[in-house]
Amino acid sequence: MGREILLCVDDELLVLESLRLELRPVLSDTGLALETALSGEEALQIVRESIAAGERVVCAISDQKMPGMRGDEFLIELRRLSPETLAVLLTGYADIAAVQNAINQAELYRYLSKPWQTADLEMTIRSAAERFRLVRAVEEKNRKIERLTMTMVSILESANYYNDSETGNHIRRVSEYSTMIAREAGFDQDFVRRIGLYSSLHDIGKVGIRREVLHKAGKYSDEEFAEMKRHVSIGASLLAREEIDEMAKNIVLYHHEWWDGSGYLAGLQGEDIPVEARIVAIADVFDALVTERVYKPPLSLEQSMNMMLAERGTHFDSDLLDVFAVNRHLAYWIATKA
Ligand SMILES: [Fe+2]
Repeated sequence: MGREILLCVDDELLVLESLRLELRPVLSDTGLALETALSGEEALQIVRESIAAGERVVCAISDQKMPGMRGDEFLIELRRLSPETLAVLLTGYADIAAVQNAINQAELYRYLSKPWQTADLEMTIRSAAERFRLVRAVEEKNRKIERLTMTMVSILESANYYNDSETGNHIRRVSEYSTMIAREAGFDQDFVRRIGLYSSLHDIGKVGIRREVLHKAGKYSDEEFAEMKRHVSIGASLLAREEIDEMAKNIVLYHHEWWDGSGYLAGLQGEDIPVEARIVAIADVFDALVTERVYKPPLSLEQSMNMMLAERGTHFDSDLLDVFAVNRHLAYWIATKA
């Protein structure tokens, strides 16, 4: 693990030297390594080098009044480079505008006035180190949970893959198109990440469908179609657990709904269909059209898009389909790459 750094910035060498002496006990208690810089520019260089070396800048304490880059300007730039660093501003005079600027744009952690009290400074550094490590520990835990979820999803995916390799490849591509649509439609990062994860599960219920129905080359009889439709409810019952994300359940249950209400299984209409399911519906149909199936050859991008645009507002959500149409070339590349 790389060093964890406390960065002090002041244009007066004497101030930096006195900080070095004064902070010795707190540095030894917290395990932080001290770095000093005589200007904001020099400090930013240290931050860049530290990040490149796999180190972390836990806390940066900056003087406000310096020639060249001011303290608040440095902290704003620092926020861009290292958003996790806790920023502390030191000012020797009442500079409300600078403090305001730093609070609003650099999410200032603390503000101390010069001359500072050693006890205040020590407490600030101790609490910054504690907070930094706590945030990292929570993030690490979340990452572990996410990795576990990914593992579970890929196990479920593999179960489908063994049942039907065509479905196995299809679900992976549907996840890629769904991620693209959600991102391009402006959904937040968390939504995009989750739809990428859970859209893989949309056809999980096909594990319960007989192979001869899944692989049938010709047209389905009414009974066979009724059986095929059941993959939605089988999938929903597999995911019917409290701890499973609602988004996963919505995708599985509603990805065959139509905007005009004529889909299956619930017959929901318009915005009553969860948006994640409306996205996966587009991804799912597109993939079925542009790739080869036992019952049809692959269609070209233009043929496929024309067929889908003909169902704009009947089968598909018009706004989402428009987003997809703009990005159709990327989707087609996903469909046709090895
Ligand atoms: Fe499906």
